[in-house]
Amino acid sequence: MDWLNRRILLGIGGSVAAATMSQTAAALRLGAGARLRVVTTPAAELFATPLPLAAAAGHPVYSDGRTGDLIVPHVELAAWADLVLVMPATADLLAEAALGLAPNLLTTVLLAATCPVVMVPAMNAAMWAKPAVRRNVATLRADGVGVLDPVDGVSLGDGSVGPGALPALPQVLAFAAEACRVAG
Ligand SMILES: Cc1cc2nc3c(=O)[nH]c(=O)nc-3n(C[C@H](O)[C@H](O)[C@H](O)COP(=O)(O)O)c2cc1C
Repeated sequence: MDWLNRRILLGIGGSVAAATMSQTAAALRLGAGARLRVVTTPAAELFATPLPLAAAAGHPVYSDGRTGDLIVPHVELAAWADLVLVMPATADLLAEAALGLAPNLLTTVLLAATCPVVMVPAMNAAMWAKPAVRRNVATLRADGVGVLDPVDGVSLGDGSVGPGALPALPQVLAFAAEACRVAG
């Protein structure tokens, strides 16, 4: 799929992997040619500060209380996007999205989105294996949300080994392209 000028809303959750999202944003915008908006959860801001993300995205980062000149930010951002890509998606974000909870800007965008939504979880392997997380992933998939399985890796948070790491970006984009193709 050609990502040139495609509008990707990158939603970032509060995982250690959030610290790598400046490089991902740069690859999406400068490498793939996509147009980018970034929304961080309050927890994500502890791991990824807005300035490098904004530089990579070529646009100020949105978060709770930082919505620029948008009047109804969740609706405007959701309407803008061709794809909402939540990466890293925390266990918490998976749960909120599965339940339709909207306590912050990113989760509210997820509710307002009518375009394809792809979530790329990253977490400790024990969290990924937890029945509650499995149930939430199954619910999201049944609801038409693309949830990409994490790959084996060393957890950036605690050094534990197992499934829980972010796949490489080409794998994420291939999965997202398929989600967009299916959505038509
Ligand atoms: C150092 C540290 C690393 C964390 N890494 C992860 C992670 O990789 N995945 C995850 O699901 N939660 C992780 N958490 C827990 C989340 O930050 C926490 O559940 C938070 O409420 C998520 O908020 P959000 O879903 O709104 O971004 C981590 C917490 C800390 C303190």
